[in-house]
Amino acid sequence: MTERYVLAIDQGTTSTRCILFDRRATVVAVARGEHPQSYPRPGWVEHDAARIWRDVQRLIPRALREAGIGLSQVAAIGIANQRETVVLWDRASGTPVAPAIVWQDTRTASMLDSLDGELIRARTGLPPATYFSATKVKWLLDRSPDLRARAERGEVLFGTMDSWLIWNLTGGRHLTDVTNAGRTMLMDLTTLSWDPELLDMFGIPPAMLPEIRSSSEIYGEAFPGVPIAAAIGDQQAALFGQTCFAPGDAKCTYGTGGFLLMNTGPTPVRSNHGLITTVGYRIGAGEVAYALEGSIAIAGSLVQWVRDGLGLIGTASEIETLAGTVSDNGGCYIVPAFSGLFAPYWESEARGVIVGLTSYITKGHLARAVLEATGWQTRDVVDAMNADSGLALTALNVDGGMTADNLLMQTVADFLDVPVVRPMVAETVSVGAAYAAGLAVGYWSDLRDLRQNRHSAGRWKPAMDASRRASEYANWKRAVESAVFFSR
Ligand code: G3P
Repeated sequence: MTERYVLAIDQGTTSTRCILFDRRATVVAVARGEHPQSYPRPGWVEHDAARIWRDVQRLIPRALREAGIGLSQVAAIGIANQRETVVLWDRASGTPVAPAIVWQDTRTASMLDSLDGELIRARTGLPPATYFSATKVKWLLDRSPDLRARAERGEVLFGTMDSWLIWNLTGGRHLTDVTNAGRTMLMDLTTLSWDPELLDMFGIPPAMLPEIRSSSEIYGEAFPGVPIAAAIGDQQAALFGQTCFAPGDAKCTYGTGGFLLMNTGPTPVRSNHGLITTVGYRIGAGEVAYALEGSIAIAGSLVQWVRDGLGLIGTASEIETLAGTVSDNGGCYIVPAFSGLFAPYWESEARGVIVGLTSYITKGHLARAVLEATGWQTRDVVDAMNADSGLALTALNVDGGMTADNLLMQTVADFLDVPVVRPMVAETVSVGAAYAAGLAVGYWSDLRDLRQNRHSAGRWKPAMDASRRASEYANWKRAVESAVFFSR
């Protein structure tokens, strides 16, 4: 019998990947394309959604060619995507009506004070922040009465990247899944439907919204006989790909940002320590798995900024070599609040700072402070997670591109004082999308089937003196205060 595969589309913040997996979740082929980031003003971040769709159309055949297989050997397609990013498009022409506003964009910060924060938190599990989609949609509609009128008539549609790709791949189905809908700040976390009061608060017409479905079911066909059978926010996909199926299972993905998610089971757990309550996944008509999330806005994108903005390194991986030229940070700390500060602070107007500069500081120290910023931000969200769950994390499962950086992984283990563990396939976002799609079409039979595919590949043990950890952490906290102070 001809072998079949599952195709995952990982539509991320900086790149899109199409990856083919076999039954053992082994990567058979990868096609990857970067798309430009547009920063038209300070705090603004935009994408060209049409370009992203063209990338997907180009990358699917490239992945098939690399694997030497035809479309008939694709059992299903699963989509994992950057969450919260807003695309508005014209229903008739299928053309975006404005640049996509990216999750990192802070242009709507001034709207936050006028919102009913209590209502938002209670209904959605989210703190009012520029991060989520609602204020971005409102901003676009407020700017153009014509756009608003067309949205009210259902002629202009809203979707996150999953919806945009499903619309294009299926030739016009307007759908989303619970994990993505839950990040718009418009979905009721318990009923899993659009909340009329919130739609009213933001002035968002229901006619422009996609239908909310589970994360794993057939949404339509992308090609004859090839169903799209999963859509799931990329961080939830990584949770699923890491097989964090039991309450208490957690993972942290290091990509553009860093996202720590803990499965909390079928009832949403409210956070008292600055985390987000979110939907982890829903497989078909099964129970919803909720999660607590600690979102870090800037992790890998700080390294990118050091490369592209400062020109201190030629490639992202050189940050490790540069940081390795010194044995410590020389007293320097970087708080990368480029999009404000996310969990656990939620200071949308904070701005990045570098503190502790003296003539002694070299680019090596700066590189070390860059890596340490990811380490301390992880520590901040792990402390919040431990406090919320009443459990102490005993090891951290990690994945994502930055986990190739051994110095970073050692730093995270040192700052958390727990071992850090990386699975064999670091592309867990894609694995999760593939798993969700494969389950929907019976390619894999159940969660037990998936668990058997998980193998650890890397492990870093903490090796930092406790008193040094404590004093360094106190310095980091002071640096965070100055980032918050700087916004005022
Ligand atoms: O919430 C934003 C997140 O989904 C972005 O993930 O991997 O594209 O940085 P990533």
